[in-house]
Amino acid sequence: MAFDQQFLWGGATAANQYEGGYLDGGKGLSTSDVLTAGAYDQPRRVTWRDPATGETGSTPFVLFAGGRQVPEGAEPAVIDGEYYPSHTATDFYHHYKEDIALMGEMGFKCFRLSINWARIFPNGDDATPNEEGLRFYDQVFDECAKYGIEPLVTLSHYETPLHLAIKYGGWTDRRLIDFFVRYATTVFKRYVGKVKYYLTFNEINMMEHSAFMAGGIVDGTPQNKAQGAHNQFVASALAVKAAHTIDPALQVGQMLAYGPLYAFTPDPADQLKALLAMQPTLFYADVQTGGHYPKYQLQKYAREGIELADTPEDYELLAQYPADFLSFSCYGSNVVTTHDDVGESAGNLMTGVKNPYLKTNAWGWATDPQVLRIALNQLYDRYHKPLWIVENGIGWADELTADGKVHDSYRIEYLQANLASMRDAVTLDGVELMGYTMWGCIDLVSAGTGEMKKRYGFVYVDRDDRGNGTLARTPKDSFYWYQRVIATNGSDLSN
Ligand code: BG6
Repeated sequence: MAFDQQFLWGGATAANQYEGGYLDGGKGLSTSDVLTAGAYDQPRRVTWRDPATGETGSTPFVLFAGGRQVPEGAEPAVIDGEYYPSHTATDFYHHYKEDIALMGEMGFKCFRLSINWARIFPNGDDATPNEEGLRFYDQVFDECAKYGIEPLVTLSHYETPLHLAIKYGGWTDRRLIDFFVRYATTVFKRYVGKVKYYLTFNEINMMEHSAFMAGGIVDGTPQNKAQGAHNQFVASALAVKAAHTIDPALQVGQMLAYGPLYAFTPDPADQLKALLAMQPTLFYADVQTGGHYPKYQLQKYAREGIELADTPEDYELLAQYPADFLSFSCYGSNVVTTHDDVGESAGNLMTGVKNPYLKTNAWGWATDPQVLRIALNQLYDRYHKPLWIVENGIGWADELTADGKVHDSYRIEYLQANLASMRDAVTLDGVELMGYTMWGCIDLVSAGTGEMKKRYGFVYVDRDDRGNGTLARTPKDSFYWYQRVIATNGSDLSN
């Protein structure tokens, strides 16, 4: 048997891309609610209003860009005449029973979802929680329990309450630490006995690429990003501390966006480039899972004149309460080089040059059949903590065919290679792995492009890029394939 009986097979989602019901049950707005839809070659936009003049507009939301996300004086806002995919998304809010039943049918042992912070504390800084929001997740967890599905809850998945972005400038402000800890503590206490596994910040290293998405930071200067990351680290440590006090059985993990970087050539300059290019990613795990700031990052801050607003107690907390386990997303690898004349490629949060050995999907993301074994070994060797793959999968413009089915053989092929590589890491290399949750198990909105067209799921949802469709659910071919994978505990990956 490749995996032990406790191995948590399942799927992953996030409220901002899946839940919808954006104002139902007393929910407040979150940063995702002001993001429009984009496309492969057209960035999403952040909409805004200037409270002094009433003027409205939008600015391109560009991954990897620094600087202000909305013009000086303007506030991110929902404005008339725009389409916002998060507002309905694929409507888990009203379909949770049906969806969890489908997960049960596939044999899920685990369902990763995020609690939308603004559903519990509509403004983020409220003194008391919104009971209706808490009740919604009670119902969701009770439904999971019916099927023996363990929830894995992300506390913040690109869902900073919008009010915190406007009033405090987002995570740059240390006061967010207290607001977050109040939120986390409320949730930990409420769901004792229902939820055992939590993640604090989805892809915490997203701070590096979009401070607005990761931390509601409107002005993404290097200084603000560094401070935002620091505040989230401290908040994570305090969340670990609170969880262990409330119930020693609770486990709070880190969530990192990870993709190995390969050097394009054996040229030492390429090798060095690949090594250095990993530091902005590893830094986040060195602190949150490793418990201390690495020297390379302190030197970088010193060179760039970045000074953190911190206290000596912060560093004690980081060392004392590191994450209990390290979870990560991994879709593929990337390649870097110092040489020009090599084609560009795309990928999740990291870009590089084209890998001539790999195939890519329509969005340029490469499928790497060895990536999970490589990633798992790299992370286990460095941190010696239990790992959990909480996102992996392939975005595809699936089509519902005339026979009422979705024949997604490309997804099965992708997953066969990835799961085989994951299995090798466990059986041949001895990596400690808690579970695997495939991203977007029921179709949902793409975070990067805001499209519906970029689908990941085992279940097709009838909804298009402009919000048309019945929201009806249809299992794809991969649904039945994954059902067998889980039933055989990963032994049978065949077609
Ligand atoms: C991860 C995020 O970056 O990748 C998810 O945690 C996201 O929120 C996923 O949806 C896939 O990216 P995309 O841009 O294809 O949705």
